[in-house]
Amino acid sequence: MGVLLTGGAGFIGSHTAIALAAHGHEVVILDDLSNASEEAVTRASRIAGVEMPLIAGDASDAELVGRVLAEHRIDAVIHFAGLKAVGESVATPLAYYRVNLLSAIATLEAMAAHGVDRFVFSSSATVYEQPGELLREDAPVGIALANPYGRTKAMIEAIVADASAADPRLRAAVLRYFNPVGAHESGDIGEDPKGIPNNLMPFMAQVAAGERERLRIFGDDYDTADGTGVRDYIHVMDLAEGHVAALEALEPGVLTVNLGTGVGGSVLDVLRAFERVVGRELPVEVVERRPGDAPVSTADPTLARERLGWQAKRTLDDAVRDAWRWQQQNPRGYRG
Ligand code: WQD
Repeated sequence: MGVLLTGGAGFIGSHTAIALAAHGHEVVILDDLSNASEEAVTRASRIAGVEMPLIAGDASDAELVGRVLAEHRIDAVIHFAGLKAVGESVATPLAYYRVNLLSAIATLEAMAAHGVDRFVFSSSATVYEQPGELLREDAPVGIALANPYGRTKAMIEAIVADASAADPRLRAAVLRYFNPVGAHESGDIGEDPKGIPNNLMPFMAQVAAGERERLRIFGDDYDTADGTGVRDYIHVMDLAEGHVAALEALEPGVLTVNLGTGVGGSVLDVLRAFERVVGRELPVEVVERRPGDAPVSTADPTLARERLGWQAKRTLDDAVRDAWRWQQQNPRGYRG
């Protein structure tokens, strides 16, 4: 199929582009490059061995999205475009509502206008009202959440449901990501956060590379086995392959699935995995909890296995090894 990836130059999008091409799909990328690099698309095309046209533009411009759908004979859209930093969303909520909601609405409108009825939405485990262990898709989702970012994801899920109810031809999948980590095994593409990384894995990679003085562990007094926060770390290539499985399983209506491993890893588990890979201890300091952090957030991945025939294959150690290779080969990310 011809597949348009809005926001496809980003971390998840660039890896998904490679997985799609490996399954014979033609990939087109629309990205405003506000938080991604054209170099990521160049490298993804090289890894995949196929041309992946990149259109630099705003997914909230329905006219532009419509032109791309028509000119590139698109059959399906995977919608990644949006702002995604939890902390930033608290500081600038209006930008998050404008960018995230308008880009989803404009993309769906352009699809309807051009008869494109296959849609995969990049959602997040952040939509769950109560984070916890082995979360199932029928757990309560709510907009009374801890942050505007999560609220935009929950709102867009509702928009997709309403669009589907109004147009039975729409075939949609909502994919709730847990904690994407790692990088393509080549080490040529990976997570390239701007400024100081918020997320654990890229921050730890920069500590290992000597770019950051030490890892601050946000609390070791949680009610978990070792007292540190537990998350469901899913290798970004497993996540990418989950998108291909969802795309190829689309049917009328909306299928919502968790993309996670079902296996919890604590901060100390990630630290130990990193120390095994780099072969030395890393400097850490336990500090107070980060506001808003949940003790545990892991997926029950049963539905994805049953409905998509997909399950994560790669381990936390695979993700750490791949993240470290990306860091070593690209100490300044895509900035060269
Ligand atoms: C993981 C664990 C921290 C950094 C976020 C977003 C979520 C999704 C993924 C978009 C926690 C601990 C972290 C550090 C630490 N993004 N930690 N020191 O918060 O689970 O999820 O990213 O969809 O929406 O909320 O990921 O990597 O920030 O934290 O101790 O320097 O690592 O307390 O236990 P999180 P994270």
